[in-house]
Amino acid sequence: MDNSWKEEIPTPALVLNYNIMQKNIETMAKFARENNVNHRPHVKTHKCPIIAHMQLKAGCKGITVAKVGEAEVFAQSGIDDIFIANQVIDPTHIDRLAKLSKYIQIRCAVDSKKNIMDLSRIAIKNNTDLEVLLDINLGLGRSGVEPGEPVLEMANLIKNTDRLKLVGLFGYEGHLTPMMNLEQKEIMANECYKKIVDTRDLLNRNGFNINQISTSGSGTYMFGAKYDGITEIRPGTYVFSDEHLHMVNPDFDYAVTILGTIQNQTGKKEFTTDAGAKAIATGDGKPIFKDFPKSKIRVMNEEHTQFKALGAGGLEIGQKIEFIPAHICPSINLYDYIHVVKDNEYIGRWEILARGKSY
Ligand SMILES: Cc1ncc(COP(=O)(O)O)c(C=O)c1O
Repeated sequence: MDNSWKEEIPTPALVLNYNIMQKNIETMAKFARENNVNHRPHVKTHKCPIIAHMQLKAGCKGITVAKVGEAEVFAQSGIDDIFIANQVIDPTHIDRLAKLSKYIQIRCAVDSKKNIMDLSRIAIKNNTDLEVLLDINLGLGRSGVEPGEPVLEMANLIKNTDRLKLVGLFGYEGHLTPMMNLEQKEIMANECYKKIVDTRDLLNRNGFNINQISTSGSGTYMFGAKYDGITEIRPGTYVFSDEHLHMVNPDFDYAVTILGTIQNQTGKKEFTTDAGAKAIATGDGKPIFKDFPKSKIRVMNEEHTQFKALGAGGLEIGQKIEFIPAHICPSINLYDYIHVVKDNEYIGRWEILARGKSY
């Protein structure tokens, strides 16, 4: 394999294999098409408008983001259908949301009375209407109204609140993502979907007309897409994959690695690279080495990773090596650019325009 592209990229650096990413996008698009479900990818994984446009071209129906700042970046790139799968609480953030609603279809999730009142007040101030999805707790526990009657109560409140419109239900069964036992995972995922579909039925029996239900990330979409009543899935990490996702779903290959350079040899088979904890996010675990996964990381400091090379011959100072992060999304957020390799040739760098837009 010709690896001469490595010599063109200064390290530490994010490297995107364009061909693998394209295959991942096509695999998910085909699955969504065949299962007649909308795919609204969560773009917090890549934070790059160019990649979001590739996903839309492949058939995705709009995009998902976590923050208003991300929504602004993608809206400015021409994307006009965005769901913020999160609560927007800070009044200054709601104000920006209201302004976005004047030129694109933008929706957010709600799960509290106070937030409903704030959204309404700021929508009125901006002379606009805001569309919301009710966030239902499916077991992850970080947000959401409990399924059933509490949702009906909240839905009635939205109905009676000026300039707000309830357009659907939203859930995220992310606590199931790491499960390795697929049979068990499917049973538990279906229990989540039953809760949200039953809640939709309760609402519709009480005068609502809710059709849209949005669930699922890369670890559970295969069940969500097949459950009657789920109309939309939101996988994001599939586009690049990472060590954690690959363990539970090998259908998506690693499209992004972090390139480092060996800068010291400290003993027999002992080396240090220039990519440390400021180059590879480690909050969800240490990375692995793409070409010699048996190697052991001894220590990760801010700017260095010390490791013992196992299953790797002939490593030397100056050599470039690739890491696969445990979780790719926080690592993407560490970089301004991603270097792109297509057909084994370096084709330049793309700006990670929504990097750091956590506000
Ligand atoms: C609300 C929500 N939806 C969808 C996703 C996408 O999940 P994944 O990145 O596993 O594809 C996430 C991921 O954090 C999420 O928080």
